[in-house]
Amino acid sequence: MKIGFIGLGIMGSRMATNLQKHGYSLVVFNRTRSKAERLLGPCGTFSDSPAKLAEQVDVLFTMLAHPDAVEQVALGADGFLNHLRPGALWVDCSSVNPSFSKRMMAESARRQVHFVDAPVTGSAPAAVEAKLIFWVGADPPDLETIRPLLLCMGNKIVHTGGHGSGTSMKMVINLLLGTGMAAFAEAMALGEGLGLSSKVLFDSLLGTPAVAPFLAAKRDKIDHRNYEVEFPLRWMQKDMHLATVSAYETGVAMPLTNIAKEMYRLAMRDGHATEDFSAVYELVTGNDQPLPSSASRSLAGDPKGAAASAELTRTERTTAKMHELEARK
Ligand SMILES: NC(=O)c1ccc[n+]([C@@H]2O[C@H](COP(=O)([O-])OP(=O)(O)OC[C@H]3O[C@@H](n4cnc5c(N)ncnc54)[C@H](OP(=O)(O)O)[C@@H]3O)[C@@H](O)[C@H]2O)c1
Repeated sequence: MKIGFIGLGIMGSRMATNLQKHGYSLVVFNRTRSKAERLLGPCGTFSDSPAKLAEQVDVLFTMLAHPDAVEQVALGADGFLNHLRPGALWVDCSSVNPSFSKRMMAESARRQVHFVDAPVTGSAPAAVEAKLIFWVGADPPDLETIRPLLLCMGNKIVHTGGHGSGTSMKMVINLLLGTGMAAFAEAMALGEGLGLSSKVLFDSLLGTPAVAPFLAAKRDKIDHRNYEVEFPLRWMQKDMHLATVSAYETGVAMPLTNIAKEMYRLAMRDGHATEDFSAVYELVTGNDQPLPSSASRSLAGDPKGAAASAELTRTERTTAKMHELEARK
């Protein structure tokens, strides 16, 4: 079985490496060639284009940023879909929206190519350790063909149903991660605004039913205000957006998701796009400083003292401003 891999970013490069570790030789392509270098050698050759790659493989994995990237690489100039042989399998692991997956399935079927949507849960560390979860929308025989390959990269495979259902499940999960992270940041901002230290908040909250387990893995990043990327914030914003597109298509209302989505957009505007998505924390807590005594006065109704203090937290400044407006009435 000859395997192709297109999209060697944070996730794709690690997934492809794990296929190689199990002895599979790959033909690879990435828009930025330099990212492919460490996969090249006895088990890896670079192809000059997606089209040329497609002519050489039986199974093709894609792990690309978003639907536009997938469409461009599949159907654009030098795209692979017209060059896969009939009977070949295309496994799209990218996080896209279900209606897009179904359209790619139809484009594939027209060319007698079998399509599987198999997005993953698990970030860069899980990708390194081959502990990804695959959510698979596929015809059962196609899943059985690729199961040994998926098991090189992950340790759980869930057959969610027909085409688009893997992508649907992935979308539901990321909506929970995205809104959960944003809600946690806001709760922490309030806790700190009320005078609880970040340490007390983290120590008290983590492990309780009130907090999603994934947040424990974000503590170190938040403690050190170092949002080294695992899952890029801009791709979380993309996933939240695609969830709202799906909601529109299916007539579902998602007020919470829409608000959280805009929080991620604002965080992108503040320069956090390529940091980990936990950097949304900075949006609500970013400018916070220790509370000076003048702030206590201001919060007790002395807006002059508040305006004079450069050390007020964002929450305190907002409160002080409200006092000031009240006083002017
Ligand atoms: N990181 C995570 O924790 C995580 C977890 C689960 C799922 N995902 C999903 O997995 C996918 C990949 O994520 P990632 O974290 O690996 O992102 P990434 O590091 O930004 O990689 C994105 C990949 O897409 C390629 N790409 C982007 N736009 C393109 C275009 N217009 N034409 C051709 N190629 C294009 C990039 O090529 P270049 O190298 O040339 O930019 C790169 O190979 C995304 O859908 C993401 O939502 C990520």
